[in-house]
Amino acid sequence: MAANGTFRLAAVADLHCRQDQHGRFRELVKMVNGEADGLVLPGDLTDHGQIDEVKTLAEALGGLRVPCAAVLGNHDYEGGAVKEIVRILGEVKVIVLDGDHAIFDRQLGIAGVKGFGGGFDKAMLQAFGEPAIKAFVQEAVNESLKLEAALAQLDVDKKVVLMHYAPIAATVAGEEIQLRPFLGTSRLTAPLEAFEPIAVFHGHAHHGALEGRTPKGIPVYNVAMPLLRKLMEDRRFRVFEL
Ligand SMILES: [Fe+2]
Ligand SMILES: [Fe+2]
Repeated sequence: MAANGTFRLAAVADLHCRQDQHGRFRELVKMVNGEADGLVLPGDLTDHGQIDEVKTLAEALGGLRVPCAAVLGNHDYEGGAVKEIVRILGEVKVIVLDGDHAIFDRQLGIAGVKGFGGGFDKAMLQAFGEPAIKAFVQEAVNESLKLEAALAQLDVDKKVVLMHYAPIAATVAGEEIQLRPFLGTSRLTAPLEAFEPIAVFHGHAHHGALEGRTPKGIPVYNVAMPLLRKLMEDRRFRVFEL
């Protein structure tokens, strides 16, 4: 923590680590150790949710000297090995959040969920008609309820939220318009507006926009690595002073 009480939080999503990428994230970990007091990873840690991929990533994250919290992304679910992924990351002290929270340095609370798609604002998918549509919408409702529960338990002044999917349309702007309903949903904004975290970090929209705000004005940051590299001079992560 800096002398003035601010917490320097590093954030990057969508690492998409592959099995053969030994060493790819070593430099990133070194830089985070030097520039930040903590690190958050909002999902798509691995490329296909494979055990060998998460082992490769854990090898690098084991070098962190600051606390680290993550949520999983859709890619991390692809291999059907979520429990094992969480366990392997836990071995190197990465806390994987799913409707719960972590506290860094006794001052910064982090609530996390994966989130889900379903579209934004007036174009948000409604639970109407076929069971498959209702099940799709229910997944987003469940994620929103999990986030609400996680935030309700956080008893610190400084709160941030991690999610993989986007809670607002603004940070997916730039993506193909047909794809946007699958990149997030406004259903995730209700708990944000109720509990007013100081910032929200997500990924998933590799070609979206860097920043936006909820209707109430809560800042939302898309920290997908491909986006940071494209729009922030090849940066691998962002550091936020909170
Ligand atoms: Fe991704
Ligand atoms: Fe994703």
